[in-house]
Amino acid sequence: MHLPPGRLNEIFRLTAGPQALGNFSPAVNLPAFGLAIRPGAMAACRMATAQLLSDLDAAFYQPADAFFTANKHVALTYDDVTLATLYSEVLPKDTQLDVQLAEGLRLRIPIISADMDTVTESRMAIAMALNGGLGLIHYNMPERQQLQEVSRVKNHIHGLIQDPVKVSPDQTIAEVLEMVEKRKFAFGTFPVVDADGRLVGLLPSHVVKPRYAKRKVAEALTPRAQVHTIHEKELGNDPIGRADKFFTDHPGIHKLLVVDDQDRLRGLFTMSDIERITQEKNALLKPARDAQFRLICGAAVPVLRRADGQLDRERILKHVGALVERGVDVVAVSTAHGHTRTVGEMVRMIRDAFPTLPIIAGNVTSAAGVEFLADCGANSIKVGQGPGSICTTRWVAGVGIPQLTALYVTSRAAARKGVTIIADGGITKSGDMVKALTLAHAVLCGGLFAGCPEAPGQLMELGGKMYKQYRGMGSEAAMRAGSAVRYGHSNDATRKVAPEGVEALKEVSGSVDSVLTQLVGGIQAGMGYLGARTLEELRQKARFIRVTSAGQREAGPHDIIEIKATK
Ligand code: XMP
Repeated sequence: MHLPPGRLNEIFRLTAGPQALGNFSPAVNLPAFGLAIRPGAMAACRMATAQLLSDLDAAFYQPADAFFTANKHVALTYDDVTLATLYSEVLPKDTQLDVQLAEGLRLRIPIISADMDTVTESRMAIAMALNGGLGLIHYNMPERQQLQEVSRVKNHIHGLIQDPVKVSPDQTIAEVLEMVEKRKFAFGTFPVVDADGRLVGLLPSHVVKPRYAKRKVAEALTPRAQVHTIHEKELGNDPIGRADKFFTDHPGIHKLLVVDDQDRLRGLFTMSDIERITQEKNALLKPARDAQFRLICGAAVPVLRRADGQLDRERILKHVGALVERGVDVVAVSTAHGHTRTVGEMVRMIRDAFPTLPIIAGNVTSAAGVEFLADCGANSIKVGQGPGSICTTRWVAGVGIPQLTALYVTSRAAARKGVTIIADGGITKSGDMVKALTLAHAVLCGGLFAGCPEAPGQLMELGGKMYKQYRGMGSEAAMRAGSAVRYGHSNDATRKVAPEGVEALKEVSGSVDSVLTQLVGGIQAGMGYLGARTLEELRQKARFIRVTSAGQREAGPHDIIEIKATK
């Protein structure tokens, strides 16, 4: 009997019945069904076999639309599903993790640290951006302080420090020392300029010492003629390369000043900055930078109201304007319920005032919520209500949707509206990230980073182990510190409201660098298993199947004595 390739599947179904599909190995079993295959037909048969097997796969492992539609009666989260492996020619190391969240907002890894007061201030945001991600600075602090935090990130490493700290020839060394102490500068070399901003010399750090306190800067400086400078026009379109060459050509010189036609100071290169930047070219995770080569940084902005309950338009726009002046790359209108009139008004107001500023808004778990915020002007929408490790919203308010179903529903609405979505909360391991990224463009995490040394907060010892505080922004303590507005409450400390988060501890973990190395390695491994070179391919290729609690147990280490815990 000779088989037309297209008939194999049908014959097999008729002869063996669907119950045999699980154990079927065509190469071995075809003769047993009395199917003689002519040698010349082997190639066609192999193709047919492959087709048969992929039909089998398709029956079990479904793409997102088919899978979530088939499971629409139940809300699923990360551990409820697993991803099927697919034919791959992609090595994990060759995968690309960059993502454009909005025009003007590109990350090199799709990971964001949460705008929570025990997770992201400038130290965390710097570490995230240096590794290619993004930190969102929380708003449980005075507005002025949030501006300073953003400035710290944006000024962290300068290829060219455009506005270096200067001193004047008339100052005394004592005054310079006082400034260093007061402003906590970690450097001690200062360009010296006259009242018109013209370069007079350079005050080297080895003279900024108490023993020279009484001297004037003019007496201690290295004079202009001996200071190395470059005209701004000579920088060309590769200022870093130009400065790098200068330092190679001038051993022992660590500062290069930039001047204009009138010899006014226009900037400063330092060798250590240039070295770090050139080393980054070989680093595994590359920094996420803006067009001016500064680290990227986001800031959350609160929904502030006046006493009459209306949005405090003036104060909000003034603060967002100041953030933009400091170079903020994105603002996040972060609330527990983003599908509300007030959040919509706030997003629209910021969009109208700052037409090109990327805006993240949320949180939502519905298609209508995504459409609403997109129509108001948000570029990227945070998805997650109640999945967070410190959240009690689902217990307290009885609302919220398990994360994978929420991501599926919102991702389809986002695609229609041309916006991106961010999976916010509930992520405990890199495998969750891979699953989230089959639907979302980026993930946002609190708990995974709260134990890092870069997170704000005190260390404490308990039973011989070191911990850091990690608290929900809807916990009583955090709401008292300012985040009550995030949950739709006023900041009136005398009003009793039900907290929607807990105060907790996280065991101290390694640095953000080491945590991200593990997480990114996991995402790349997942992409390799699915043959996905880019995150877009991951979203297209993913095939899902549900797992039982026995399957969940099988997924982790089991039936062993673990001597080194899995991170
Ligand atoms: P993970 O799981 O990464 O979650 O620790 C962080 C996310 O949780 C949200 N969040 C809260 N949700 N009550 C809540 O219901 C809270 O007190 C709370 N604090 C933070 C937030 O979306 C964050 O990114």
